[in-house]
Amino acid sequence: MPSYVITGVSKGLGFEFLRQISADLNNTVIGIVRDKPTTDKKVSEELSRRSNIHILHADVTDYDALQQAVVETAKITGGSLDYLVANAGYVTQLDAFEPIGVLGNKPQELEGDLNKSIKVNVTSNIHLFNLYMPLILKGQVKKVVTISSGLADLDPINNFELEVSPLYSISKAAMNIAVAKFHAQYKKDGVLFISISPGTVDVGHYTHATQEELQKLGAMMQKFQQYAPDFKGPTTPELAVKDVISVWEKASVENGDGGTYVSHKGNKQWLHSA
Ligand SMILES: NC(=O)c1ccc[n+]([C@@H]2O[C@H](COP(=O)([O-])OP(=O)(O)OC[C@H]3O[C@@H](n4cnc5c(N)ncnc54)[C@H](OP(=O)(O)O)[C@@H]3O)[C@@H](O)[C@H]2O)c1
Repeated sequence: MPSYVITGVSKGLGFEFLRQISADLNNTVIGIVRDKPTTDKKVSEELSRRSNIHILHADVTDYDALQQAVVETAKITGGSLDYLVANAGYVTQLDAFEPIGVLGNKPQELEGDLNKSIKVNVTSNIHLFNLYMPLILKGQVKKVVTISSGLADLDPINNFELEVSPLYSISKAAMNIAVAKFHAQYKKDGVLFISISPGTVDVGHYTHATQEELQKLGAMMQKFQQYAPDFKGPTTPELAVKDVISVWEKASVENGDGGTYVSHKGNKQWLHSA
């Protein structure tokens, strides 16, 4: 009866993790969300009769709420946890189409969004991991997964002048280091910490983009195509989640995967090819 806690299951990749993992009724799947009534409704409409799903309320930036989620998780699982998946993320729109120097023209917004990116994507996950550690250490599987992004890798940024999403990328890169530090501490206890990028996935982030923003998006996609000539555009949450789960299932402390930062292919190829 493996148990999972996944943050940010209200939509996007998080909901897809919830959907795929709960399809096996042997899995106990606990999703953490900010808006529990709306997610409960979505689950009852789209994933009805899955009594193995439990939705808990917490904004991941609220330490007390996370503490309460741990207490409630322990009641559901009997005090242990096998998989913890830090999926919730702040994907800022401020920097989605702008390089860091252009954001410099709006210093207060830059600072506000960078602080928020660090708070949600780094600090909250550090608290999440620390608070769940007693349960993870009692679990059988002991895997802690962070959903990262290929945008945090230095090589494509430098080689293909990937200038967009600077604040988001900075926060994801910082979290990769946090993951390695957790590994450094808990390797001896057999806990796997790993950062996995899902690739570029269509979760509707660009639905309301303006014509000008779409042009900038097109320029970024061209750079992606230079980087990976087979790249044909964003993939679906279904395929991305399958890939990410397969990477964490194959990964182990024994094989040297602890503290690493890899793609949905388990390597440094960040984009899905056709
Ligand atoms: N889509 C991609 O191409 C892509 C690529 C690389 C990495 N990622 C990563 O994948 C993860 C999931 O993103 P997504 O693409 O599925 O985007 P998404 O559809 O915007 O989902 C983000 C999720 O995070 C939750 N969340 C945000 N702030 C939160 C907070 N303070 N407390 C609790 N939950 C919070 C959101 O909940 P609400 O509904 O309450 O807002 C939502 O469930 C993120 O870590 C993202 O960085 C995505």
